[in-house]
Amino acid sequence: MTDRQHCIADFRETARRRLPRFVFDFIDGGSGTENTLAENRSALDRIRLLGSAPTDVSSCSQAVSLFGQNYDMPILIGPTGLAGAAWPRGDKELARAAAAHNIPFVMSTAATATMEEVAVSGSGTKWFQLYIFKDRAVSKRLVSKARSLGFGALEVTVDNAIPGRRLRDARNGFSLPFRWTPAKLASLAAHPGWSLQTALAGPPRLEVMAAELGLEKADTIAELMQAQLDPSVDWEDIKWVRDAWDGPLIVKGVLDPGQVSKAWDIGVDGLVISNHGGRQLDGAIATIDILPEFRAEAGSKLTLLVDSGFRTGSDIARALALGADAVQIGRATLYALACGGEESVSRALSILKSELTVAQMLMGARTINDFGPSMVRCHPAPGTFEPVSAAAGARRRAGPLSLVTESRQGALP
Ligand SMILES: Cc1cc2nc3c(=O)[nH]c(=O)nc-3n(C[C@H](O)[C@H](O)[C@H](O)COP(=O)(O)O)c2cc1C
Repeated sequence: MTDRQHCIADFRETARRRLPRFVFDFIDGGSGTENTLAENRSALDRIRLLGSAPTDVSSCSQAVSLFGQNYDMPILIGPTGLAGAAWPRGDKELARAAAAHNIPFVMSTAATATMEEVAVSGSGTKWFQLYIFKDRAVSKRLVSKARSLGFGALEVTVDNAIPGRRLRDARNGFSLPFRWTPAKLASLAAHPGWSLQTALAGPPRLEVMAAELGLEKADTIAELMQAQLDPSVDWEDIKWVRDAWDGPLIVKGVLDPGQVSKAWDIGVDGLVISNHGGRQLDGAIATIDILPEFRAEAGSKLTLLVDSGFRTGSDIARALALGADAVQIGRATLYALACGGEESVSRALSILKSELTVAQMLMGARTINDFGPSMVRCHPAPGTFEPVSAAAGARRRAGPLSLVTESRQGALP
């Protein structure tokens, strides 16, 4: 099946056909009007790349170092809950594929495998994504477990004070555990491959949360999260995690560059600029549009990861040019997972790598550090293309943190 897919859009289409609708929609959907889901794509598409021929690109590298570890490319598989709905034991398959490509895999708190299982899936680096639960003792236990199992970094997700309203899930009657309505049973019959596989493996369970919280059933995953997540979480709680975890600490789900100095002050090492793939705040800004401001605020002090909407190597080149150290992937590898488990995910990663190679060579970036804002143009208004301000987009600005007061003209809209 895997040789039929030549880009992430092909994997998405195969996943759409293979998965029952309520599962595909859970993965594919966004919140509210899905305005941000769409904007993540259109913002990336608005940015144009400058080919820089002729440049000697006979020798190129995608090697990147994150928190002192060397990886083969500036891509991470980000945390996605309920991956087992796409493929049995999906988290383990994702971890193994990431290991084969020497990139980090970020395990979700809402994983469908245990932390012990994921820790030994493939020989690669695993990070753990933490939710701060109302019961802090649970989160603290997860932090200790992540440390003892050798997870290399912690990503604390902060954009879940309240779950986004995911209308596709509501309309499809998406529930945990799955509740078999006539519509869902009809969908099962229409997708025998997935149905048989899931019947043999057993329905996916949120293993980490079930072990710690003894989950009751919930009508939607959003309701489940709402019952457990704490809307009072603020920077004091991140400080609390900082004190409990001595490895690299990353805060995931920020969109306001004003948060950079707060993160820095309490010893956070990195940020994931994310709108949760358009699944939380409907109407949120596309992450590629705000990335240059984050880089201008952070200078060289914080590692900046970005996600939401990235589907091609050219998208990743855009993020690198505008100041990201690496890009986290959400749905792209989930679509692939649904098509054929680890093998398909590995192939999707190879495709992204090849696409990035093409972009990199044609843009004249011999190494990842050669990407810069001068390599892109964008148009804030239809038909108007302007250069991105070099100061706003500079990947690494030396010196102390500075509040950017310069004119926003020329920066991304
Ligand atoms: C099905 C699904 C489940 C997700 N579960 C989590 C999660 O458990 N924790 C988390 O921090 N983010 C979660 N996310 C958000 C992703 O980590 C990431 O921010 C988002 O998918 C990036 O957008 P993209 O899918 O367009 O690449 C999930 C996303 C999807 C699509």
